[in-house]
Amino acid sequence: MDKFVIKGGVALHGEIATSGAKNSALPVLAATLLTSEPVSLRRIPRVRDIRTMLKLIENIGARVEVSGDTVRIEAGEIVSPEAPYELVKTMRASSLVLGPLVARAGRARVSLPGGCAIGARPVNLHLSGLEQLGARIHQVHGYIEAEAPGGLRGAPIQFDRITVTGTEDLMMAAVLARGETVLENAAREPEVLDLAELLIQMGAKIEGAGSSTIRIQGVARLGAAAHTIISDRIEAGTFLVAGAMTGGDLTVTNCVPEHLGALIGKMRQAGIGIEQTGTGELRVRGTRALRSVDMTTEEYPGFPTDLQAQYMALMTQAEGIAIVKENIFENRFMHAQELARMGANIRLEGRQAIVAGPRELSGAQVIASDLRASASLVLAALVARGETTIDRVYHIDRGYEKIEEKLAGVGAQIRRA
Ligand code: EPZ
Repeated sequence: MDKFVIKGGVALHGEIATSGAKNSALPVLAATLLTSEPVSLRRIPRVRDIRTMLKLIENIGARVEVSGDTVRIEAGEIVSPEAPYELVKTMRASSLVLGPLVARAGRARVSLPGGCAIGARPVNLHLSGLEQLGARIHQVHGYIEAEAPGGLRGAPIQFDRITVTGTEDLMMAAVLARGETVLENAAREPEVLDLAELLIQMGAKIEGAGSSTIRIQGVARLGAAAHTIISDRIEAGTFLVAGAMTGGDLTVTNCVPEHLGALIGKMRQAGIGIEQTGTGELRVRGTRALRSVDMTTEEYPGFPTDLQAQYMALMTQAEGIAIVKENIFENRFMHAQELARMGANIRLEGRQAIVAGPRELSGAQVIASDLRASASLVLAALVARGETTIDRVYHIDRGYEKIEEKLAGVGAQIRRA
């Protein structure tokens, strides 16, 4: 099992490029099942979760061709509208094929995604939305069986709480439903808008994507498209924190600054210099006088939960007390214990973590638990005195493309062992 070995104390300098967004690529890949015509997608990140999704789409019956970061998918016919447990247990976002399969094939059998390290992760809102569109849903032997033999029909759907993949799943189901669907209290993440742009290119009629109300007029069929997905704002944010924490001077390229407003605002309040130096470029310079700033995670455009762990690592180096509140998931502080083993002063009280700093971190042997917690351990290791070994880096490989090469390219002493 791969590990990272990192020697801390090097300020990062130079340019580091962002890849395409994993959380945009996953729904966009699922959307290719909605048409029998070819869909070509560019800037697909080469990470484990994408390989899992491509395997799933091939199992369903689509032809998949990969060349570099471009993927061409032709779902000529749906041979087996299924997402088996073996695949779903490794990647819960497999449930994103549920909506497209019911819409295209009239039925789907998708393993219930179990919980994961960060929480129970129910999919009740996906299922109730599909029922409102006319699907019959059974849960049996750990599988979701959905049927809509006569096709789906549009309906008004009000989400009890904001769900990113719930919004995406139901938007994909609704584009082939008869009549109008209105999604209220929809997720506003940039990845939702990116998916809608692909669907519209395929011939879907969607208005309001990116806002809380999405209006969809169903159409009989969708066609071919070619689409370049957006940059990964979480990867870009992780690199901005790395540049700040190490006291370096780092330019993050190929990113979308307007997707990072909440993080940039907090980092500037903390005393860090961040400026836009060109199209898709953000330059971050570390500061000696890093100040503690409270933060609460919220749905977009609020501070993203996927950057909470990275922000916590940053606050271990800040002067004062920072209260970090996690509003989205019920168990997303696993990184706190590992950071504490490296010398951080963090006290957990329910959904909030109290981070006192600055504390000098020392290298240690730590274990990654989930994708973003792992990223925070890499950040801590970059500033810790001595050597850190991070075990189970397959968690990182799920969502970060060549992270050790990218960081080494700007001076980090990091290697995979
Ligand atoms: C997406 O997960 C992302 N994954 C997550 O990124 C991200 O952390 C999350 O959105 C929040 O931004 C992908 O896009 C593939 P939710 P998702 O449905 O859609 C509750 C990463 O690190 N909920 O928006 O699964 C849920 O339990 C991953 O890249 C229900 O109660 O998250 C949570 O508390 C981690 N019922 C809240 O809503 C449902 O049916 C938000 O979850 C669905 C969700």
